[in-house]
Order: sequence, then structure tokens, then C-alpha cells
Amino acid sequence: MSSSDDKKNSHSINPAASQEGISKGLANYGDRGFSLFLRKAFIKGAGFTDTALERPVIGITNTGSAYNPCHGNAPQLIEAVKRGVMLAGGLPMDFPTISIHESFSQPNSMFLRNLMSMDTEELLRAQPMDAVVLIGGCDKTVPAQLMGAASAGLPAVQLITGSMLTGSHRSERVGACTDCRRYWGKFRAEEIDAEEIAEVNKQLVASVGTCSVMGTASTMACIAEALGMTVPGGASPPAVTADRMRIAEQSGTLAVEIARKRLTIDKVLTEKAFENAMRVLLAIGGSTNGIVHLTAIAGRMGFEMDLKALDRMGRETPVLLDLKPSGQHYMEDFHHAGGMATLLRELKPLLHLDAMTVTGRTLGEEIEAAGPGFKQDVVKTAKNPIYPQGGIAVLQGNLAPGGAIIKQSAANPKLMEHEGRAVVFENLEDMANRIDSPDLDVTVDDILVLKHIGPKGAAMPEAGYMPIPKKLAVAGCKDIVRISDGRMSGTAFGTIVLHVTPESAIGGPLAYVQNGDRIRLSVEKRELSLLVSDAELARRQAEKPAVVPTAQRGYRKLFLQSVTQADKGADFDFLMPPMTGVVPKVK
Ligand code: FES
Repeated sequence: MSSSDDKKNSHSINPAASQEGISKGLANYGDRGFSLFLRKAFIKGAGFTDTALERPVIGITNTGSAYNPCHGNAPQLIEAVKRGVMLAGGLPMDFPTISIHESFSQPNSMFLRNLMSMDTEELLRAQPMDAVVLIGGCDKTVPAQLMGAASAGLPAVQLITGSMLTGSHRSERVGACTDCRRYWGKFRAEEIDAEEIAEVNKQLVASVGTCSVMGTASTMACIAEALGMTVPGGASPPAVTADRMRIAEQSGTLAVEIARKRLTIDKVLTEKAFENAMRVLLAIGGSTNGIVHLTAIAGRMGFEMDLKALDRMGRETPVLLDLKPSGQHYMEDFHHAGGMATLLRELKPLLHLDAMTVTGRTLGEEIEAAGPGFKQDVVKTAKNPIYPQGGIAVLQGNLAPGGAIIKQSAANPKLMEHEGRAVVFENLEDMANRIDSPDLDVTVDDILVLKHIGPKGAAMPEAGYMPIPKKLAVAGCKDIVRISDGRMSGTAFGTIVLHVTPESAIGGPLAYVQNGDRIRLSVEKRELSLLVSDAELARRQAEKPAVVPTAQRGYRKLFLQSVTQADKGADFDFLMPPMTGVVPKVK
């Protein structure tokens, strides 16, 4: 050690000298001086000098995992973030957190979202850092990180891993996961054979990165930027591009700046920011999951979601983004069209332009800084939208007293005003056993009802996109009205009512629907009604009261005890602070 380092060392083991950087949040030995002395001894074991340890510390969440190809570029991103941090005079410290991938999470990824948010929150709080760069991408990771960071209260920058590239199958451009579902539907309908489905399986995910359509991952990327939580332009660059790496470097640099300015997350995640994010969710034809996640993130800041107000907002917010599943393009096309700047510019009259962002400038200033835009055909104009209203409508009625939602922009216009006979499946297993049976009594005019896939019923799997019964699919049926208390992938399409609240597992009216009951769906009137009398429903309820699921041990026990309904974001009740406001405030 040099003599100058010696001098710094004797000074810097005095914990009173600083409550920032490496001296923050000391392990409790009852002697702060000793705690810092010990911490420094250990970190020096990794070869750090006192000079390095005196810099602002920037945590970087490493969510790279062999089980998560959507985060397959995490090592390169971390390298770029570190470069940005060091260029700005900070000390980067990456650390692992839980990583969740949709296809590698049993029973489903939603079961783990709150666990990841707790892991992220506690590690942000426990470890010394002045700001954090959150690297997330796959569906549940960005919500979990924003929920955790909102609760931890540090300055934070969200870095998105970025979308995958599109592939090509027999000259047709394909990408996960809208095309996964489309091709699987063709296979089920016996329009393509086993050889072709195996062939397309190799093309749907053409590189590492998140799903290439406006699924939940892309939705949350756009929402994160609309909230002001990313570097401007941070939502759209694909995972494997130089643009994505530059965004990563800038995220590192920005993290040092916000650490110095103490621009904590509560200054960014304001009511105005959440309203902006809701506008964007509606205008991009975003995933229905975005509502649950945004509700949960807002809840962590003490803001309750007003679903009726969100619906009113939807009526005056057109869908502008021409991306699958509502439109035709992919995320990389959105990036080439200018990304979020192009969309935000078009949405300007509907946004709170004075909302603060992580750059320390307002959203309006960032839109101005992005320049005038250019001719492109991915983001439409407000005068010529993809769909005249917001992508998501909120339904109410005696079947869903606490609300339900439908992605109207991805639904069949012919089925949005529909009355039909209920064909009921009691749970996922029942559906799996009978949906393809030639004996299933079902016609294209019926309404499929699936129970027990709500938060407590089954941790809200994306099973609301029920398959078309095989005998109807083979006969050419492409859509049928489906209703459940579960979720569906943002990449799916169809006339599908989701998030029915309260859920059937806790005795919501959905639990008492029987085969042959009539159900009325009117998206125009925002109505979801079970045409059965209150007296008959009460009789059914008395005859078979709900048995709420419980578990004996572990995380599952915690989950079932604490998970809230979809209208509260399916967060854990003990993680939510007292509510102090309501969003959106649209009249
Ligand atoms: Fe990860 Fe779609 S599975 S984003």
C-alpha cells in the first residue's frame, strides 16, 4: 500500500466521516468503527484501494441466469454500465438477485414476482450503494425491480435488457410470442404438420432478449421510460445492438449523477408519472398485465389505482403503435421508427410534460431534446390511429363487482357485443382434461368460463387465453369469448375477459357460474353480466361456500396469506404502505 493510501485508510475507517458510499448501512456489531473497519478489510480482500472505495457506490442488479435467455446479454450490459459508472467517477458494484423467466417458472412467474421484489428491495437496503442500476427485461423482472426500488427509496435507473431479433420461417418474419401462439393454433387446427411446427420452433426466438412484440416485457419497457425511470430512448433498442450497449453505459453515468444529486425514486414516481405511464400503456396497445404491474408499483408509492378513471382515460387515448398483437410490426421496427420519443411526441397533448425524470429534466424537456422526428409508419398519428380508443377497457357488472378487463384492440369486433351460454371449467386441470374432448358440448356462440386461476386460486397464470376447443378449431373457429380470473400473455389476442375480481377462489360470483347460464358481454357499455338472479346466486353460494386455498409452509404459505386481488396489483398486503392518493385523476 502506498503511503497516501495509508493516510486515507486511517481517515476512512472513521464511520462518522461519511454515511454515504461504502460506509452506508453498516452491519451491526454495536461498534460502528469496527463494522466499517471489517467491511473495508473484506472488500480489500477483493483488491480494492481506498481511492476506489471513496467514490459514490453504484449497485448493479445482475439478473443474468442460464435459465433466462431474455437476460442473455446481462454480462455485456453489466460491463457497459460499469464503464459508464467509472467514466463518471463512481464505483460499480454488481450483485445477483433473483431472475425470473416466463417459461422456466413453475407454477408460473407471477408467483415469484413479489418474491423478486422483496429480494431486490432488501438487497438495495442492506448493501451500501448511493444509487442502483436495475437490469431487467423479462415480463416480471421490471415490475419486481420497480416495486422493490420504490419501497427501498434510493436513486434508481431502470435498464432494460432489450428485445430479441425477429426470425424467418419460410420467408415469413416471425417472433415470440404472438407467432408462437399463432403457429401453435395452426398446429392444433391441423393446418400445419409436426415437421413444420418443429421447424418454426427454431426461428421464433432469433437471439437473446425479450419477446419481440408488444407483450408484457415490451409494455413494461415502455412504461418504465414513460415513468421517467430510464435513460431517454431506453425502452426500444434490441438486446444485441450497439444502441442497447450505449444505453447501458449512459445508465451507469446517469446513476452516478443522480447519486450525487440525491434524486431519489419518489421524486420520479409521482402521480403525474403514473398517469403518463397509463396513457402510454393505452396508446401502445400494451399488455393487460401492465395494469396489474402498474397498480402494484403505484401501490408501493401509496397510490391506489382507480380502474373506472383508467377506463375513462382509455376512451380518449387512441392506440398509436402498430405492433403485434394489436398491429403488424415488431419492437425492432419501433426502435427504427424513433422509439418512445416518436410515440411521446404524438401523445404530448395528453401527457404531464412537467413530470420529472431520472435525468433531472422533465419529460417535456426530454421530448424536445429528442428533436422533431421523421417520417415512419410504426407510430401512427392521433388523427389516424390503429384503434380509436385505448387498447384496454375496464368492465363491470354482477359477474365482476371489483372489475375485469379486456384488451379490446386485440379482440374480435364481432364478439365485443355478445350474449352466450356458459361452458364452465372448474380449474386448469378440468380444462386440460375436457377442452379437446369430442364430447364437449360447445358451439362458437358459447362463452368459455375458467375458474380458480386468480391470485389465490393459482397465482394468476397466463391461462386466461384458453385454447379454442379442438373440435371448433378444426372447424375453422379462430375466436370465442373467454372469461376468467386469470391473466393472459401480452402477446396473445382474442375476445378474452381477464382479472375478474373478486376471484372465484375467495367466493367471487365467478365461482357460482354453471354450465348453461347466460352471460352478457358489452364492451361498448363496459358490462359483464351473469344473467342469473341474485336469489339464485345466493342459493348456490349457501350450497357450496368457497374454501380459500392455504398452504402449510414456506413461500407458498406467505403468498396465499398475503396476496391481494388483481385490482390491488396482486402485491402482498404487508408490502404496501397506507394509500395517500388515487391515480389517475381523470374526471
Ligand atoms: Fe421473457 Fe417473453 S419470455 S420476455
